[in-house]
Amino acid sequence: MSEQRIAVVTGSSSGIGFETSTLLAKSGFYTFATVHKLEGEGSHQLIDTAKREKLPLEVIQLDVNSDESVKNTINSIVKKNKRIDVIVNNAGYALGGALEETSMDEIRKQFETNFFGTVRVMQAAIPVMRKQRSGKIINITSMGGRVSIPFSTFYHGSKFALEGVSESLQYELAPFGIKIILIEPGAVGSNFWKSIKIAKKANSPNSPYAQLAANVLKTFKKMEENAMHPSEVAKTVLDAVTSDDPQLRYVVGNDASKTLEARKNMSDVEFGNLIKDQFKIPYNVI
Ligand SMILES: NC(=O)c1ccc[n+]([C@@H]2O[C@H](COP(=O)([O-])OP(=O)(O)OC[C@H]3O[C@@H](n4cnc5c(N)ncnc54)[C@H](OP(=O)(O)O)[C@@H]3O)[C@@H](O)[C@H]2O)c1
Repeated sequence: MSEQRIAVVTGSSSGIGFETSTLLAKSGFYTFATVHKLEGEGSHQLIDTAKREKLPLEVIQLDVNSDESVKNTINSIVKKNKRIDVIVNNAGYALGGALEETSMDEIRKQFETNFFGTVRVMQAAIPVMRKQRSGKIINITSMGGRVSIPFSTFYHGSKFALEGVSESLQYELAPFGIKIILIEPGAVGSNFWKSIKIAKKANSPNSPYAQLAANVLKTFKKMEENAMHPSEVAKTVLDAVTSDDPQLRYVVGNDASKTLEARKNMSDVEFGNLIKDQFKIPYNVI
């Protein structure tokens, strides 16, 4: 291909998005590192890194929650560059809290960013890729898109939903040379942990779920301490993007491979007990 390959990454201001944008740019992709807020510290770091390392990287604004922002940003990229070769749908956050204590508004917001945000970007990018008859869509889901842990009900809901949509999508996109790829990381050391939103009502010591919440948050602390660097995920994205025959799924991290392998060989009861032990749940679950 003679033209420079164009990549677009959402949620590039930190963590996996930051590492993926800069790695794709270092690897020869003209990269649009899109950010939620242009004035944030992450944007400045991206701009400084691109200048210092002379990377083909532009920082532009894209709020995955907004129809207008997604449409305008994708249109402006296509107007200038005529193509999009890679889209990395990475923007996301986690919502914690028991179901009955989580408001519909909080649930909708979780799905708006993690699920509808990704769908919105795919709807904008697919027509471009279909016309050029090539493209790769990378959806960063999670090992939490295939197995669930407690107190993260709607985070899992949003990631499981994305897994289902992506799996079905592969059939309709295949005739147009578009590949869909799921990246399923385990725990990653990023702003993700400090950005976890706890449902307002769940934040009370009087909650009937307070003990469960405390145990889960303790285990999250340990997961964060043992988390891999986000560059590990970026390397996997690059492998997938540069492969002639990418897989549908890439699991990243020992924790994710071990957990998903265990899940394959366990009954629901056995897996439930494994999670129960990991999260110090003092009662039988199933
Ligand atoms: N960290 C983990 O353990 C882990 C594990 C598996 C999967 N993941 C997934 O990996 C992805 C990246 O997470 P990370 O670990 O790199 O966390 P992170 O450092 O918190 O990065 C999340 C990014 O998403 C952006 N974002 C949030 N809402 C947005 C919106 N409406 N529009 C555009 N961007 C938005 C954030 O921007 P602002 O900060 O400016 O809002 C930030 O750049 C997420 O989808 C997450 O679910 C993370």
